[in-house]
Amino acid sequence: MQNKNIVWQHGVATRDDRRRVLNQVPLTLWLTGLSASGKSVVSYALEAELLKRGLLCAVLDGDNLRHGLNSDLDFSPQARSENIRRAAEVARLMNDIGLIVIVALISPLRTDRQAAQSIVGVDLFREIYVSTALEICESRDPKGLYRAAREGGIAEFTGVSAPYEPPLNPSLMLDTGSVSVHQSVEMICSLIKTTSS
Ligand code: ADX
Repeated sequence: MQNKNIVWQHGVATRDDRRRVLNQVPLTLWLTGLSASGKSVVSYALEAELLKRGLLCAVLDGDNLRHGLNSDLDFSPQARSENIRRAAEVARLMNDIGLIVIVALISPLRTDRQAAQSIVGVDLFREIYVSTALEICESRDPKGLYRAAREGGIAEFTGVSAPYEPPLNPSLMLDTGSVSVHQSVEMICSLIKTTSS
């Protein structure tokens, strides 16, 4: 609940003033998909490519945020909602500065992703579904978490004992089981070109 004694403080510079300094259009590229679907690998490759092209960007990676800003949150549905809300608020702040933000979060529920879109703003938000099949993610299992989840060692593990709701109308779908990281980055770069205003 918003405290009525807290009043929004307006600056003098506008969003356009900030955009002019960086000479780029901010966006939030929201990568959703199962654990080990390739979200982080694609995100960091994209970051490197955008920087190479002179575009300033930042990655908000679920695992990393959970080491600091979101270290108080577990994987209950309520905590995941809060995890996603905070990431979206940070993305909004960064977009406001003028940065391109790459978010890599499982963000398994449609309602939470919709809430993130509302926070960031529909015009700046692009949903990218990293659609790599569960069997492939599970065969990769880089952290051994699927195995642990199957053996009952991790509760509420997405895809095993907690739900994942695929996006209904994503801006882009990437199956890293059949598309390389390089191709994935190119596809996202094309999306930025064709849909940024
Ligand atoms: S989200 O569901 O709240 O969006 P987030 O992207 O922050 O998840 O974190 C996912 C990462 O946490 C996974 O890549 C995995 O390494 C780790 N993890 C640990 N426990 C779980 C769990 N129960 N479900 C999913 N991922 C988990």
